[in-house]
Amino acid sequence: MPRSIIAGIGKYVPNNVFTNDDMKQFMDTSDEWIQERTGVKERRFADRTGETTTTMGIEAAKIAMDRAGVTPQDIDFIIFATLSPDYYFPGCGVLVQRAMKMKEIGALDVRNQCSGFVYALSVGDQFIRSGMYKNILIIGSEKHSFIMDFTTRGRNISVIFGDGAGAVVLQPTEDDHRGVLSTHLHSDGNDAEILAAYNPGTHANYWKKDLADYDNAEIGELYQSHAMIEKGQNYPVMHGPDVFKKAITKFPEVIIEALEKNGYSASDLRLLVPHQANLRISQYVQQKLKLRNDQVFNNIQKYGNTTAASVPIALCEAWEEGRLKEGDLVCLAAFGSGFTWASALLKW
Ligand code: ACO
Repeated sequence: MPRSIIAGIGKYVPNNVFTNDDMKQFMDTSDEWIQERTGVKERRFADRTGETTTTMGIEAAKIAMDRAGVTPQDIDFIIFATLSPDYYFPGCGVLVQRAMKMKEIGALDVRNQCSGFVYALSVGDQFIRSGMYKNILIIGSEKHSFIMDFTTRGRNISVIFGDGAGAVVLQPTEDDHRGVLSTHLHSDGNDAEILAAYNPGTHANYWKKDLADYDNAEIGELYQSHAMIEKGQNYPVMHGPDVFKKAITKFPEVIIEALEKNGYSASDLRLLVPHQANLRISQYVQQKLKLRNDQVFNNIQKYGNTTAASVPIALCEAWEEGRLKEGDLVCLAAFGSGFTWASALLKW
């Protein structure tokens, strides 16, 4: 059975840099607060009308495809992970297929937020192992700057996130010394509302009371109402301390699961590339697994948390900086809204 290898990787971040001091023009915050709690120094924001989640994904995909030596015509499946799609439906995958003039191939959108890319990689890996596809394009991309509450009300969440995209081309290999060794996927929906964007949606307060205010309950008006917009209920919400607690348990668990499954321990890792949720979370995980600084890659300081894009952006940057050589043991790990968490262990 073939294994999957990352044959090409690319990243794209918008040109617009917003420092923590720049955030003060929108809300009451400070560089000190943001850096101390999250590690973020600056983030990129997409051009308001000139860039979308899909177009940023395409820029990253072009680089990944070029590095893999393939053209859009060679791609036989697209997997697109995002929480900030261009349209509520259809997904970004079909927009990539259209814009890149690809064949009438399958296009799948993955909605697993921060663990979206690792979930997408796992799905792609199964198709490669089964022999169904030979060139799978996987993209993680986010345009958070369009969906956050940039006022003091939303400062606990909007200062953490940034825009960007990462992409890989997966191909089969028969080389025993390279490729994806295993992937591990988990979820626990008990805390689904702790880190979420409820509205607009079709829930009608079914799961929890008071997630949305409705002006009245006429057909059609339960999806989005003026009251919802006036109260800012159309923005994502996060209860930070609960996310922190769960993340620091599940990150190490899923990393150890991947290592043990393949007979390795943390000290064997060349590089851990964690989802860039928060520098404090990464540091906790590093300490818990007794990893050296050179074994963990962090770039949240420059880009903020880019959700589904964060793992491929970080992996790409690590590779571009020469931190990865053929055959190196690498673990990708992610945790996020849902909650969902996942890992992938691979030989680069
Ligand atoms: N600037 C200044 N003050 C702020 C800001 C800000 N940007 N945001 C919140 N505050 C204030 C609050 O208003 C509050 O003030 P008060 O005490 O006067 O009421 C105080 O800071 C503490 O607010 P908390 O929300 O309790 O902030 P906390 O100390 O928990 O830090 C944070 C928030 C950084 C989100 C923290 O909970 C955390 O690290 N959580 C982990 C979750 C996380 O990192 N998520 C990332 C994305 S999710 C993911 O990728 C999985």
